[in-house]
Amino acid sequence: MALPTKKFPAFPRTEQIAPVEMNRVTSLYKTLFWTGNSNGQLHLLDQTQLPQHIENTICTTVEDVWNAIKVLKVRGAPAIGVAAAYGVVIGLQESRNASVDEFLREVDRIAAYLAASRPTAVNLFWALDRMKAVAWKCEAFTATEIHDRLLAEARSIELEDQTMCSAIGRHGSTLLKAGMSILTHCNAGGLATAGDGTALAVMFQAAADGKDIHVFADETRPLLQGARLTTWELQQRGIPVTLICDSMAAQVMKEGRIQIVITGADRIAANGDAANKIGTYGVAVLAQYHGIPFCVAAPSSTFDLSLPDGSGIPIEQRASEEVTCGFGTRTAPENISVYNPAFDVTPAELITAIVTERGIIRSPTTQAIREHLA
Ligand code: MRU
Repeated sequence: MALPTKKFPAFPRTEQIAPVEMNRVTSLYKTLFWTGNSNGQLHLLDQTQLPQHIENTICTTVEDVWNAIKVLKVRGAPAIGVAAAYGVVIGLQESRNASVDEFLREVDRIAAYLAASRPTAVNLFWALDRMKAVAWKCEAFTATEIHDRLLAEARSIELEDQTMCSAIGRHGSTLLKAGMSILTHCNAGGLATAGDGTALAVMFQAAADGKDIHVFADETRPLLQGARLTTWELQQRGIPVTLICDSMAAQVMKEGRIQIVITGADRIAANGDAANKIGTYGVAVLAQYHGIPFCVAAPSSTFDLSLPDGSGIPIEQRASEEVTCGFGTRTAPENISVYNPAFDVTPAELITAIVTERGIIRSPTTQAIREHLA
């Protein structure tokens, strides 16, 4: 791979509206963190501002959390789940002195509200279901006690996510050899999780193991998560990365520059069909044509075994302005008709392997997935 492999310094902080928190171990910015007790606040690294501005936004109401998820201040399937769990805690702060009946009704109301923020990433619903289950199991306690337990559950979801990311990194890095160039789409890094990410965790681990790797990042139209976020994260870690427009992937593969594709997923059906950022399906088709392995890295919370295949995965439709007027510059005529699905579904037969925190599912099938998750 003869492309330039310059190492970049960490991106400078240019503006802050609230203190950003660095992870003490890795010296990297934290995607989200909670401060205080059950009456505390959720801090999010505002991903709509990256990479120009590194600033946190503080959520003090459940509406703040809903909005942050909706407008992608926090994004990526696992991170949305963690943020929503803390959102439940925030939404219940004024109900601490309510009767248990009222409190539990409020739990359901707030969970339903947060569930309506984005439809595709199943981790959101998975986290909200966990929060509801904890609340309803605690019927014998006071509302205050249940609320404290909900904060503990949100913290557990965050910590488990970190552990899952590390495990995905360890398993997935066995797929990478020194000298490999990896293509990724969208952002499945630390910014998309509470830990080191999924697809990018694999690359971080391989680099930490001393493997000399290089990454191609699709820019990922229309919201440019690849250009804005994935390249930024890889720069921060000193991993060589080359940005390409989405439409260049075929040519770059044809030139023999890519040895493996690794992406994240927002929801994986029982048979292995995987929803991920729009454009992923096209990349998988290209990978098969060029004989390149196409792998998905995701925690077990991303599986939705209630869906036999990907046809039932709800696909989020987003505003037309994201396509016609992205980042404030109009690039299409006024009143043009736009179709803007935010995700697509890659059929399982195009997926070489799915990496989870438990290991690697090769050539995923319904049976292999069931056994893996059992
Ligand atoms: O719309 P986004 O930015 O939330 O989409 C994110 C993705 O598609 C990611 O690839 C996916 O959530 C996996 S994140 C580990």
